[in-house]
Amino acid sequence: MCGIVGAIAGRDVVPVLIEGLKRLEYRGYDSAGIAVVVDGAVRRVRRTGRVSEMEAAAGAEDFHAPLGIGHTRWATHGGVTEGNAHPHISHDTLALVHNGIIENHEAQRERLSRLGYVFESQTDTEVIAHLIHHHQSQGLDLLAALQASARELDGAYALAVIDKRDPDRMVVARMGCPLLVGLGDGENFVASDVSAILQATRRVIFLEEGDTAEITRSAVRVFDGAGAAVERGEHLSDVSLASLELGPYRHFMQKEIHEQPRALADTIEAIIDAAAFEPTLFGKDAEAVLRGIDGVQILACGTSFYSGSVARYWIEAISGLPCSVEIASEYRYRKAVANPKHLIVTISQSGETLDTMEALKYAKSLGHTRTLSICNVPESAIPRASGLVFYTRAGAEIGVASTKAFTTQLVGLFALAVTLAKLNDRLGAEQEAAYIEDLRQLPGSVQHALNLEPQITSWAEKFTLKHHALFLGRGVHYPIALEGALKLKEISYIHAEAYPAGELKHGPLALVDAEMPVVVIAPKDALLEKVKSNMQEVRARGGELFVFTDADSNFSASEGVHVIRTPRHVGVLSPIVHTIPVQLLAYHTALSRGTDVDKPRNLAKSVTVE
Ligand code: M6R
Repeated sequence: MCGIVGAIAGRDVVPVLIEGLKRLEYRGYDSAGIAVVVDGAVRRVRRTGRVSEMEAAAGAEDFHAPLGIGHTRWATHGGVTEGNAHPHISHDTLALVHNGIIENHEAQRERLSRLGYVFESQTDTEVIAHLIHHHQSQGLDLLAALQASARELDGAYALAVIDKRDPDRMVVARMGCPLLVGLGDGENFVASDVSAILQATRRVIFLEEGDTAEITRSAVRVFDGAGAAVERGEHLSDVSLASLELGPYRHFMQKEIHEQPRALADTIEAIIDAAAFEPTLFGKDAEAVLRGIDGVQILACGTSFYSGSVARYWIEAISGLPCSVEIASEYRYRKAVANPKHLIVTISQSGETLDTMEALKYAKSLGHTRTLSICNVPESAIPRASGLVFYTRAGAEIGVASTKAFTTQLVGLFALAVTLAKLNDRLGAEQEAAYIEDLRQLPGSVQHALNLEPQITSWAEKFTLKHHALFLGRGVHYPIALEGALKLKEISYIHAEAYPAGELKHGPLALVDAEMPVVVIAPKDALLEKVKSNMQEVRARGGELFVFTDADSNFSASEGVHVIRTPRHVGVLSPIVHTIPVQLLAYHTALSRGTDVDKPRNLAKSVTVE
């Protein structure tokens, strides 16, 4: 969703801001803008649409300055208009960018209106700009005015502020939305996402909840929520610039699908090296936390919810512990009964998803103390709020449709299931060795599945003109059907639904006719014969079947039944291998329909609002 970048330097920072905003485009946005302080004035350019349009406008106005902030906005309060785009300016002196939502903006707007402030936008953000200005007018300097304003705001924010009367610094604040400071040589930066400033530096300080900071060219001073000066550690980001470039690929989604063998190999490396499933995979104190649990509660959204749904099968079957999976946005608002001996597992690619974060906070408020996050972004909010962490090593995922994050999450969750089994004395050495061997083989099996791309491309052509599709799976592959349907709907805009195949005759069979393609995940497992019966139910109603099965299943194509064979059945990790074809099917269908694959309409990469 929204993105922030800011810079203070001895050079023109406009190219840094523009490049930073381009790096933030993947998060999803509908307008963009920059503001700079130059020659005693604050100047601004904003545009709806792409960053490139705003860049052209900035070029035309000949923007050059040593201090500036930039923003990509994903509309929440107020429509997609230039007037609602950030930065917002108060009294032609200070400019501000904001990620998040201010919950008490209406009360603050009324108060500020009574004080004579005139609002030019419908946003909650403009309130903050005027509030800071108001505190300055009461005699506070820029930093103190920001801190005083922060104390009066309810909700979530990451803020960056510049002021023409104070041209040698930028001030920033964080509460509930990520914000980091980038450290350069005689120049410093701020960003909501490290990708925005990697062009300039890898040295970063992650601000914590309630922090404010003053950033000059040569120094960074950080203050905690009480206003006391604090030291926050410096980190070296390992996000590679290459992971932010398309390289030879047409889309990031295509690139990220093809990166999966490498992403999986990196994620399992620690297990393969240790030749064991050690609790330390989840943190140094993990054994004490995991040993005492008597159940697992998984909380997540979207694709991450589906990886949790696969994990439920694994955790119950392998470790013998009961496991529930719930959509985070539902859990956070219901009166749940907490069992403090349950492990709360949150799953999130971004580590920023607001509903998942709030579900975690709610679980803690109910008395849960054992928390684990499976996450792809180091130092993001959700792992920082969790006791234990398993970082997937998928690398930056730019496409809005999650792909490599999903399969690497599955590896982390599988490792959790096996580790819990081990701690509960349900895992013999032979079985542990066999699981390690399964993991060792996994990147190769995924590569084989990727090699099916030409066949899947020819199937995609048959989906191009369809309006609906049905996905079927059973058991541990049912969540893969759900994931396949989600991928297809979000990037190709074809309405797709997934059902457990056994449920077909309880309703959805009524939808089946020659116009309804039915995709079936049918690996050679204990449920294959059941799935075959379900497929006959479809064929008998004239439905056309597109079946992904294993190379070693005795299954053949026939009239109205298309078959693509993934590699030989890989056992317990089969859901991971069977994810690849549904990703490719969605990608190639979207391609043939000409949609914006990496930035599907109405969606954002990180969903940081409700
Ligand atoms: O970053 P998260 O994993 O928490 O994101 C959760 C969902 O927003 C995300 O998986 C979404 O469903 C994807 N667009 C699916 O491809």
